[in-house]
Amino acid sequence: MNTSFCIFAHRGASHIYPENTLSSFREAIRRGATGIELDVQLSKDGHPVVIHDESLNRTTNGSGLVKHHTLKQLKALSAGSWFHPRYERMKIPTLEEVFQRIQRSRVLLNIEMKNLLIRSQNLEEQIIHLITKYNLKEQVILSSFSPQSIEVVKKLNPHITTGLLYFGKLDEPWKLASELNAQYLQPPIEVLTPELVQQSRLHQLQICPYGVNEPKDYVLAVRCNVDGVITMYPEKARKFCRIK
Ligand code: G3P
Ligand code: CA
Repeated sequence: MNTSFCIFAHRGASHIYPENTLSSFREAIRRGATGIELDVQLSKDGHPVVIHDESLNRTTNGSGLVKHHTLKQLKALSAGSWFHPRYERMKIPTLEEVFQRIQRSRVLLNIEMKNLLIRSQNLEEQIIHLITKYNLKEQVILSSFSPQSIEVVKKLNPHITTGLLYFGKLDEPWKLASELNAQYLQPPIEVLTPELVQQSRLHQLQICPYGVNEPKDYVLAVRCNVDGVITMYPEKARKFCRIK
């Protein structure tokens, strides 16, 4: 895993294009992101697909749960018309389509395994199968709010880089991440402190906060000397974090 400071675009350039679409990922890279953060769950027939909510209602013209639809049914939906009519033809990408596009680049992927509210059997296995197929181990971080999901990844392949996401202020979160053998701790920016970074480093963890969107957030991230940020605005992050 390349360990230089990484700017992950949250769901791609999700303020310009519909989130978690191939266009949004392409635009994020054009705007200076060195990584993409995206959300993955399984279709009814077991394909890893890139979509944030468990329900289709907000970001597609469909309804119901993602896991109740086959890939063919999901591909028949628009993943762009909710954002603007001109994006009607945009589709929910599969993780495989994303891998095919970044395969020959140096772009990193922070793949959030959506496994907290609805436990999806085989999600980790299917993602790892694709990482192996496309030889992308050095370009991916598998992260989750579900410690169980990280455990499953490590059992399936201990060499895959993982990150523990969490909400709010946890007591000594570095201990849990360390027990899980994760490489990254991914706190919300609101709880970032120099002590959190220091403790993470003492536990051999890299730290990459999310929700880093305001000027004060970038300033705090730089002051705390984090290893990367997950942001909606890669171009602002480059400017504030003084990345050339
Ligand atoms: O990767 C951190 C962030 O994406 C977690 O929140 O709800 O946007 O997936 P959410
Ligand atoms: Ca996410």
